[in-house]
Formats: sequence, structure tokens, C-alpha cells
Amino acid sequence: ALSLADQAKRNAAFAAVDRHVTPEVRVLGVGTGSTVVFAVERLAELKQQGRTHPDLVCVPTSFQSTQLIADAGLRTADLNDLLPLDPTGGCPASIDVTIDGADEVDSELNVIKGGGAAHLREKVVAAASKKLVIIGDHRKDATTLGEKWDQGVPVEVTPIAWRSIKSQIERLTPLSRAPAAAAGPAAAAAAFEFASPVAVLRQAVRKAGPVVTDNGNFVLDVRVGKIFDPAAVEQAIKMIPGVIEVGIFCRMASEAWFGNDDGSIAWRI
Ligand code: A5P
Repeated sequence: ALSLADQAKRNAAFAAVDRHVTPEVRVLGVGTGSTVVFAVERLAELKQQGRTHPDLVCVPTSFQSTQLIADAGLRTADLNDLLPLDPTGGCPASIDVTIDGADEVDSELNVIKGGGAAHLREKVVAAASKKLVIIGDHRKDATTLGEKWDQGVPVEVTPIAWRSIKSQIERLTPLSRAPAAAAGPAAAAAAFEFASPVAVLRQAVRKAGPVVTDNGNFVLDVRVGKIFDPAAVEQAIKMIPGVIEVGIFCRMASEAWFGNDDGSIAWRI
């Protein structure tokens, strides 16, 4: 039997797939993590029942995701092999919809991702998608990022410079949000809660040494407390040379589905 949390994740995943993977969807982005496992379970059922596009292809976001797609008897596609939907401009997205998990979602649908160290490919796939649909249980549903998720912001970094990147991150100040020129210095506001960030090199489980991502990089988990200005934190960290991707997804998600322990589902846009 599934735990309450897993049943909640499964309910959200099934509802989101039923809503979004219609027969019109030909290119689907498939996220990473434990909730996405249930989404692919439902996807395989829909395919078996002939309720998906006959030429459906899935764009994976990690090795785990590639494996899930293949095990479900679905076809994978490489992002580079897809043509833009609208080559004349407008939406550059070639993926109809992507369904992915999250570590935390705020009230504006900004998201922390990368608890599974897959946020580089997840962000690239999200950026190539017309819609990003987030699924999870209610423990991910927050008002402010950092309110519930206390593991820090996952930051993928090049192994050759992780120590210097760590110290540059730890020198960032909470007042990194630039005041609007017109408003003057009085408008400066803290972008995050802690006086100084703490960046921890993520260690592997059942392997000695650090986590190595699918792309051969390391992950720093950056603890800053509550994040009041996700875009400012994302940008400040991303500007440090050697940072490959930051696990803050600002305004990329179009909706989120959260399963509750009583079996109900909350839906936010
Ligand atoms: C992978 O790196 C993450 O972004 C996952 O999407 C996130 O950690 C959610 O995973 P769960 O569904 O297992 O909570």
C-alpha cells in the first residue's frame, strides 16, 4: 500500500495527466522525481487505451526520466531534433506541455527544483515548453520559497571551481535586490532572509564523495532562509562564473496540482 504522501502525489499526477495529455499533445516533456513516476504510470495507461496522440514522443529531463519513458513503452525525443512550433516568432517552444515535480512552489508559481539534481535539464525543457505543469503533494505548496523546503536552493556547478563558487555565494548579501532607480536607496529590500548564505556540497548516498549530476557536475545546496525575491536570488547566483544552473524557476510554471492527504486535489494557476 502507498503512504499517504505517495497516494497524494499519485492523485495529483493522475489528475494533471488526464487534464493535459489529450490526444492533441504530440510532444510531452517528462520531469524527474518520485511524483513523475506516477505521471508516467498514468501516461502508459492512456496510451494503452489509445487515448494519446498516435505519434506521441516524450522529451526526458534526466536519465531517470529516460528510463521511465522507455519502461512505459513510450518513445523519447531529443530536444535538438524538435522543430520550433512557430519558427516565424512568437512562442519558441517545441514541447506542447511538460509535467514535472517540484521541491516547493510559492503563491506566484515560482518553484524550487533540483532536489533530485536534475534541474539543469528540467529548466531547459521547461523553457522549450508552451506549458509547465507542476505536480506534488501539499507539502510542496507554500506562500514564500524557503518557507517549507529547508534543504536550500540546488545550484549545479562545475567541479573544477566548486570551492571558489561556494565562497562567492556565501559572500552574497540579503540586500542584493537592486532598488528601483526612481525610488532611491530607501526602496532596497532584502532578497532573502539569512544574513549570509550557507552553501553545502551535496554528498552522495551509497557512494563515497559528492553527488555527480547526469551532466558530470556537482551540486551546492544554498541555504538562504525565506526567499523574498526569487528572481534576484536566481540572477545573483547565476552570474557567478562556473555556476551552470540555479534551481529557482521564476514564473515558468503555468499551474500546479497538489494532492492532499484526504484524497482531494488543490489546483492553482
Ligand atoms: C529533480 O531534480 C527535482 O527538480 C524534482 O522535480 C523535485 O525534487 C521533485 O521530486 P519529487 O517528486 O520526488 O518530490
